[in-house]
Amino acid sequence: MSTAKKAALLGWPVEHSLSPRLHGYWLKQYGINGSYQALAVKPDDLAETLRKLAKEGYVGVNLTVPHKEHALSIVDRMDENAKRIGAVNTIIMNAGLMNTDGDLEGRNTDAFGFAQNLLEGGYKMEAERPIAVLGAGGAARAVIAALQDMGAREIHLINRTLEKAEALAQEFSVMEQAHFIAPNEKMAEAVRHMHRVHAYGWGDFGALENAGLLVNATSLGMKGQPPLDVPLDLLPKDAFVTDIVYAPLETDLLKRAKQRGNRTIDGLGMLLHQARPAFEAFFGKDPEVTHDLRAHILDGR
Ligand code: ATR
Repeated sequence: MSTAKKAALLGWPVEHSLSPRLHGYWLKQYGINGSYQALAVKPDDLAETLRKLAKEGYVGVNLTVPHKEHALSIVDRMDENAKRIGAVNTIIMNAGLMNTDGDLEGRNTDAFGFAQNLLEGGYKMEAERPIAVLGAGGAARAVIAALQDMGAREIHLINRTLEKAEALAQEFSVMEQAHFIAPNEKMAEAVRHMHRVHAYGWGDFGALENAGLLVNATSLGMKGQPPLDVPLDLLPKDAFVTDIVYAPLETDLLKRAKQRGNRTIDGLGMLLHQARPAFEAFFGKDPEVTHDLRAHILDGR
């Protein structure tokens, strides 16, 4: 009987994903007896497929569009990150108490990936300066979670639909309060001020003033998507600028930021680093993100 550990990426469609190339590179590099394949799974088949793979002895899977939110209602339990981000991108199978249907533990490693990419790019949190985040979708939730973990006190959330930004701002402020049971109202107020998220509408780019970091967490600027039309005039020249979009690697936003002297961090590292905790849970090794790996992944696009 083969002892190869089996993992997979589930998506619909899934053929353009870089994850099999990424995990395949590490499996080879570390000489691990394992496999990582892409499986096209229709949304309606997700629950059944997950149980089937768990029963077949898979060590786990990653999830991509459109499964990440749906999986919340399927897994047997999940970690704090999956709960607060509201999405599951990694499922560990059969790790805990076995249930007869195959055990599923949901996790989310996107915030970890985003934070690691920022740190690797030389960014240091300046808690006294605001951070501007563009977008209020699933990606923005992971970005805000990561920034708050890193100590961000004030986030300016700019989104086309103001109501979505407002809802997210409120949710993440409430969550930070929930982490802390304040002994009195004065202290509770201090905590609320420590982690403020303010909502702004699209066009309200005064929110970039004084920012130490600007993050694009929308899909704008991606190949095939509309351009990201954000004036940078008010952004301080010493601010970092990062983009979750990595195709193209140098987005128009990053190009414009670089031209005016801002330091930039591209989005590829987020993809590479978010895969690390999953690979470690599946195959037992925390893998390295190297220049050679980056080149290998860029070749595969
Ligand atoms: P994801 O899960 O990848 O974040 P999403 O939930 O669809 O994807 O969110 C996409 C984000 O890009 C949203 O913030 C969206 O703004 P709305 O909340 O107003 O929909 C933003 N976005 C998409 N197209 C946009 C456009 N043409 N102009 C400005 N923002 C846009």
